[in-house]
Amino acid sequence: VVHTPETMVRSTQTAATAAPEPRMKAFQVYRWDPDRPGDKPRMQTYEVDLNTCGPMVLDALIKIKNEVDPTLTFRRSCREGICGSCAMNINGENTLACLNRINGNSSKATKIYPLPHMYVVTDLVPDMSNFYAQYKSIEPYLKKKDGSQEGKTQYFQSVEDRQKLVRCSDLTHILSILSETSGLQLIGQGQTGFL
Ligand code: FES
Repeated sequence: VVHTPETMVRSTQTAATAAPEPRMKAFQVYRWDPDRPGDKPRMQTYEVDLNTCGPMVLDALIKIKNEVDPTLTFRRSCREGICGSCAMNINGENTLACLNRINGNSSKATKIYPLPHMYVVTDLVPDMSNFYAQYKSIEPYLKKKDGSQEGKTQYFQSVEDRQKLVRCSDLTHILSILSETSGLQLIGQGQTGFL
């Protein structure tokens, strides 16, 4: 086959216009608005084309909210597994939606619930009041044994001490497992004695 410039342009155009087959995937999402009189908890199904969606479950939720149903409510902030605000129950596992990859098997719906054992504010948003009350009660910040030099001099930090802080910051992920376990169990797993 001899390609002239004209046929080459034509074949490029054909390739550019041939859209891929949609890869539809169902997401069954817990919905409930306690402020709406008579509303009852229910599962609502949304279909998302994975070809036009990011790879994570949070991407699908954002797409649904932006393009299909702006009333769907959930928390998110960093989108990189740091803040813990997108913690929810996905297919039976408490996890972070921004780190949870969408299962590409389109014959199986992804089921999404709020974190268990917590009151629901609306949809996937749990009530964090108890969590923050407990968090505050344990005073989760660094304290010097001798505070007499506070404000008078610099406190130097060793590389080793800095490493301990990094481990503590990992605890923000705790939110995703908090409703399934106790702080004592976490300490037992070497996660420091923060809780
Ligand atoms: S959005 Fe921050 S951990 Fe998922």
